[in-house]
Amino acid sequence: MRPDEVTVAGIGGSTRPGSSTETALRAVLAEAERLGARTLCLTAGDLVLPPYESGGVRGPRQRRLVEAMAGATALVLASPAYHGTMSGLVKNALDYAEDLREHPAPYFSGRPVGLLAVARGAQGAASALASLRSTVHALRGWPTPLGVTVDTSRACFGPDGRCLDPRLQHHFTALAEQLVGFARHTSAIPACEVGTQPARA
Ligand SMILES: Cc1cc2nc3c(=O)[nH]c(=O)nc-3n(C[C@H](O)[C@H](O)[C@H](O)COP(=O)(O)O)c2cc1C
Repeated sequence: MRPDEVTVAGIGGSTRPGSSTETALRAVLAEAERLGARTLCLTAGDLVLPPYESGGVRGPRQRRLVEAMAGATALVLASPAYHGTMSGLVKNALDYAEDLREHPAPYFSGRPVGLLAVARGAQGAASALASLRSTVHALRGWPTPLGVTVDTSRACFGPDGRCLDPRLQHHFTALAEQLVGFARHTSAIPACEVGTQPARA
């Protein structure tokens, strides 16, 4: 892989057909692609997994998720607000990062992580964003300075997934720019210099 090559793994969404969380996630990934990154998206059915069990048997979907987390140079996490926090679907997916505790770059070490929280109101979106951010800190990732909130009490997307709000679209673009820019910058830095410590130190 060239040092400036960036692979962004998008993880999140909801199982609801036409989910606005998935639409927002895909909008950020499209912007990352425009900046030359490779992307992959794990959403909806990809994330319907058994509750995380330490040391449990891993099926193909569980392995794909953990491999996507391990192989990404940057991540985007997107969750609807459910009762003031991230959804159980997204939290359970993030629990699978525990399988990376013995990885050379444990959990999300050294990787920038863009965050999207989607809710029917500003308060739910803000609290879901805070929950995502604190989980990324626990996973040793680097949340981007901009976290994007999407308030679906107003129409945000057209039927084709196009963003109807220029300000929101600008936020998607800025998030992708921070993510890809940071990933290109840190790829030249050895992992130990960007915050990696031995797991369970
Ligand atoms: C179980 C559940 C809990 C929710 N809790 C909240 C909440 O606390 N605050 C809020 O603003 N919206 C809440 N919502 C609304 C969703 O966050 C909102 O509809 C969001 O746009 C859903 O995203 P989706 O279109 O990707 O499914 C809840 C929805 C569900 C199904």
